[in-house]
Amino acid sequence: MHLFFILFLTRIVWINGQSGNFPDCKSGPLSSFPICNQSLPSRQRALDLISRMTLVEKISHMITTSDAISRLGLPKYEWWSEALHGLAYSPGVFFGGDLPAATSFPMPINLGATFNMRLVHHIASIISTEARAFNNEDQAGLTFFTPNINIFRDPRWGRGQETPGEDPFLTSQYVYAFIQGLQRGDDERYLKIAGNCKHFDAYDLENWNGTSRHYFNAKVTDQDLVETYLPSFKTCIQDAQVASIMCSYNSINGIPACAHQFLLETIARESFHLNGFVVGDCGAIANILYTHHYRLTVEDTVAVALHAGTDLDCGIFYLLHLHDALNSKKIVETDIDQALMRTFDILIRLGWFDPPEQQIYRHLNKNNVNTLEARQLSLISAQESIVLLKNMNNALPLHIDQLMNKKIALIGPTADATVTMQGIYHGRAPFLIDPITGFKNLTTGKLINIEYARGCGISSYDEKDFAAAIELARSSDIVFFFGGIDHTIEDEGVDRKSITLPDIQLTLIQQLEKVTRSPLHIVIMSGSGIDLSYIRDSIQCSSLTWIGYPGQSGGLALATVIFGQYNPAGRLPITFYPASYVNEVSMFDMQMRPSPVNPGRTYKFYTGKAIYEFGYGLSYTTFNYTWNNNTIFSFYSIQSLIKNNSKTNRTLISLIRINVTNTGNMAGDDVVLAYVTPPNIIDGEIVPFKQLFGFERIHLAINETKEVFFPFTIEAALTIARDASKWLHPGLYHITIGQQRMFSIELEGQSTQWA
Ligand SMILES: *[C@@H]1O[C@H](CO)[C@@H](O)[C@H](O)[C@H]1NC(C)=O
Ligand SMILES: *[C@@H]1O[C@H](CO)[C@@H](O)[C@H](O)[C@H]1NC(C)=O
Ligand SMILES: *[C@@H]1O[C@H](CO)[C@@H](O)[C@H](O)[C@H]1NC(C)=O
Ligand SMILES: *[C@@H]1O[C@H](CO)[C@@H](O)[C@H](O)[C@H]1NC(C)=O
Ligand SMILES: *[C@@H]1O[C@H](CO)[C@@H](O)[C@H](O)[C@H]1NC(C)=O
Ligand SMILES: *[C@@H]1O[C@H](CO)[C@@H](O)[C@H](O)[C@H]1NC(C)=O
Ligand SMILES: *[C@@H]1O[C@H](CO)[C@@H](O)[C@H](O)[C@H]1NC(C)=O
Ligand SMILES: *[C@@H]1O[C@H](CO)[C@@H](O)[C@H](O)[C@H]1NC(C)=O
Ligand SMILES: *[C@@H]1O[C@H](CO)[C@@H](O)[C@H](O)[C@H]1NC(C)=O
Repeated sequence: MHLFFILFLTRIVWINGQSGNFPDCKSGPLSSFPICNQSLPSRQRALDLISRMTLVEKISHMITTSDAISRLGLPKYEWWSEALHGLAYSPGVFFGGDLPAATSFPMPINLGATFNMRLVHHIASIISTEARAFNNEDQAGLTFFTPNINIFRDPRWGRGQETPGEDPFLTSQYVYAFIQGLQRGDDERYLKIAGNCKHFDAYDLENWNGTSRHYFNAKVTDQDLVETYLPSFKTCIQDAQVASIMCSYNSINGIPACAHQFLLETIARESFHLNGFVVGDCGAIANILYTHHYRLTVEDTVAVALHAGTDLDCGIFYLLHLHDALNSKKIVETDIDQALMRTFDILIRLGWFDPPEQQIYRHLNKNNVNTLEARQLSLISAQESIVLLKNMNNALPLHIDQLMNKKIALIGPTADATVTMQGIYHGRAPFLIDPITGFKNLTTGKLINIEYARGCGISSYDEKDFAAAIELARSSDIVFFFGGIDHTIEDEGVDRKSITLPDIQLTLIQQLEKVTRSPLHIVIMSGSGIDLSYIRDSIQCSSLTWIGYPGQSGGLALATVIFGQYNPAGRLPITFYPASYVNEVSMFDMQMRPSPVNPGRTYKFYTGKAIYEFGYGLSYTTFNYTWNNNTIFSFYSIQSLIKNNSKTNRTLISLIRINVTNTGNMAGDDVVLAYVTPPNIIDGEIVPFKQLFGFERIHLAINETKEVFFPFTIEAALTIARDASKWLHPGLYHITIGQQRMFSIELEGQSTQWA
């Protein structure tokens, strides 16, 4: 009896926390050492632990798959887990057992389209809750290599779908909300999980015309770096206090990112105050030698990466060659200690060494995964992300009560999309509601006949299924075509050559146009812009809806929009360029401003005419913007703004106030976008056409009015000069709300440099 009881207790203890994936700070070899003393600062705890490790043990912890050190009671740890829009397949994440699936949210490009950062924060907090539940079952790590906050510079980029879009301000707002949701929860003492901002920096090319990311040298001007490629990382590191960043595969101006001392030490650590570690993208340290040939020996490669500040290797290069570098005196052991101090510091701040009883995160379990709240949030996010691009004669929404005994045809390669709706970097979803199922769900019991014909594939040219689709269209009252692209066309490692809709899809659309009784409805699934001008201009196409990659409930979300249960309000977070764009600018050209070989990039600088502009998106209702006419024109003196700032840190110039009224006949959201156009400057400098400095998503009932506020600050008014210095220039600043130019603000005085 006694013996049984003791055995029983031992088993309980073993299950409760010391089950092999956490260090044993209760009775293990470390328990009496400072690493286990919670009253000490985390870095001091880390340093003590490191001081007890042998050199071989230290080196084994310099890579993302680090071994157990049983002598010290330190379990193995896999640093590489993924959670871009829900827990995702990766070396650290395992789906199975009690935790077969995790909530799959829409792709970040969709989340950009929602322009709703409270939503993004909520999503990230659900992701971190599910991540903790997985970690407690030893099915995920605590360190996640997410989010991807590179700027979506060129529509050909295969991983643009992983980002919230092309605008540095939007991406900064996104990363702040996302990292807060991942890292900060109800227990202020601990990181909930650790995020990672990647890829630092100027990474946005996979493999184009024979040049892959492993060889690419991004030539970036100081102006573009400060204006476009750094701001999201600054917000991530300085304001959101991310636990780690990842240096990228590419070189920047001839220096591989993971060997880039200026970017990693001077910018990330000294200027932005990174309080965490730097991990090299997987294989990126080896690339310094083997693809970039930036160093010629393994020893020099280790030294240049470690000295630049790359603390952790996702790969085995450090494991294989740190010894050689020490032996040849290219590095010293304290270089290794410093890197380990930064990585272990994060594990300590995650509570890895601390008793589970007093940590709420350690008690999350399968009941906290795939909850009703999470399922609803994924559906709402998908709804909020859907962008209505065309709606001729109010073709949408369809009114279910007018459809009795009608036949609706769903045709095309994405009508039955399931995993495709998840985009890339996804995990195993608890369920996937494809568009067909979504349509059937909303029309159940209404005597509406919904039929499906595939018609064609995404891109392979084969017309064998055309006839059945055309026959179905001919006999139907309403016809939808579901097209777009998928991971065979845009993916990690895969950039696009063309930004048109695949020929086979356009051919089928044209044939359907000839036989349908009423104009076609088109739905496009994609993570990037497509030249949809044919559909935009065809009077045979009555509506056009872009749904990105909308996640597990994407098909249901779409159906609620089509049938008017949800009023769409997504706005494009990217410019949809004409097909000719790819012939007008090289994929390798990192410059944002127009030049003789570049028509300019993004809504800020593109000089051509977009198919659909950044910020574009329709609603089933109408909104009216009004403002207090007293503020139509105002003056401020630059000198007094500067003086105010040095006295009080006050950077506000003017609070822009707008009344938004729902003047139509359906309740719905509006996304109010605030842009500034800076004055033209005399020395021939190109300024943006406009730049976003505020946005707000609001819900308005019919006839309801809400006031929204946008602080117009000194930062929003700054102009970045060619040498990357920041200036407050005198002149007229035009404020545009949505499409409406509203006020001008005049700054008077001398051009003044801003620190
Ligand atoms: C933990 O550290 C604190 C602060 O240095 C010290 O006062 C305390 O004695 C330590 N506890 C143990 C158990 O060593
Ligand atoms: C692609 O590479 C080939 C071979 O190097 C070169 O001739 C061609 O100009 C390149 N095309 C573009 C669009 O850069
Ligand atoms: C429609 O979908 C919802 C959400 O997934 C589900 O709860 C409901 O049972 C479905 N209804 C029908 C009729 O399929
Ligand atoms: C918007 O509201 C203003 C003020 O109430 C009114 O004068 C104007 O006609 C409205 N515009 C539209 C498009 O409804
Ligand atoms: C918005 O409307 C409210 C109520 O009519 C009014 O008090 C306020 O001044 C208006 N604000 C602006 C910016 O027009
Ligand atoms: C406010 O400004 C608008 C646009 O300049 C103008 O049409 C309107 O008459 C002004 N209203 C008042 C009350 O001054
Ligand atoms: C300077 O600050 C004062 C007090 O906050 C404020 O009243 C004044 O408008 C500010 N001046 C400028 C130019 O912003
Ligand atoms: C202004 O901000 C800086 C940096 O955050 C701070 O050190 C300084 O004390 C602030 N000054 C005032 C007057 O608040
Ligand atoms: C909205 O306002 C209009 C004009 O004042 C009015 O006729 C209509 O009944 C209102 N609708 C609702 C739902 O309040």
